[in-house]
Amino acid sequence: MNQAHANTATLAVAGVSKTLGGVQLFKDVNLQLQQGESLAVVGESGSGKSTLLHLMAALDQPDTGEVYWADKNICTLNTNQVAAIRLRHVGLVFQAYYLMPHLSARQNVELPFLLAGQKPDSAHASLLLEQVGMAHKANSFPREMSGGEQQRVAIARALALNPPLILADEPTGNLDEDNAERVLQVLLQACNTHGCALVMVTHSMKAAGHLNQQLSLAEHRLV
Ligand SMILES: Nc1ncnc2c1ncn2[C@@H]1O[C@H](COP(=O)(O)OP(=O)(O)OP(=O)(O)O)[C@@H](O)[C@H]1O
Ligand SMILES: [Mg+2]
Repeated sequence: MNQAHANTATLAVAGVSKTLGGVQLFKDVNLQLQQGESLAVVGESGSGKSTLLHLMAALDQPDTGEVYWADKNICTLNTNQVAAIRLRHVGLVFQAYYLMPHLSARQNVELPFLLAGQKPDSAHASLLLEQVGMAHKANSFPREMSGGEQQRVAIARALALNPPLILADEPTGNLDEDNAERVLQVLLQACNTHGCALVMVTHSMKAAGHLNQQLSLAEHRLV
């Protein structure tokens, strides 16, 4: 890793490999994303896209290689240090959403503020819920929402603190065409107006085409 590059990139992945269950998913993955850049990762089901995104989020450790958030090599940090930085540096949209079941849509979107020790910015939460088309369900709980509705709340939550890096796993996976387009525009707006870097895993070539760069996870390589 060229240290000068690591210092300026919002996300840098250097020589990363991962084996799970005795199967090598990928090896020698290298990429860098600067402020405002967006990358789509495509690939067959089971190719390791979610695993790679989880490594970028420091939810798992690579077998070899390193992951940098700005100037921090996160592979050298302990769990508490990573969690503290992740809260402000990374907005995560999981493939399975992981909303807090006992919190309403609004409370889920405001949760990152509380975790960061800040007073929730209700106006910002309202704006995000409106942008993802969920303002009318702000007081609904996850059990009262469809999968696609939960997905949209999860996207609003990921954007709550305007994180420098957004990692989104199939964020349009359960959405109709109009809502997929709406969500994509919200994510791209975060790149264009706040300078976020975005990595989006997707099966949709149409969605991937909206981003700056498209890479495919195939035959254990990101190409
Ligand atoms: N903890 C684990 N132990 C063993 N194998 C695992 C583990 N987690 C994932 N795998 C396997 O690793 C492979 C890659 O999983 P991953 O979830 O990264 O795929 P994906 O590309 O995101 O697929 P999809 O498009 O279906 O979401 C799969 O074959 C999966 O079964
Ligand atoms: Mg996946």
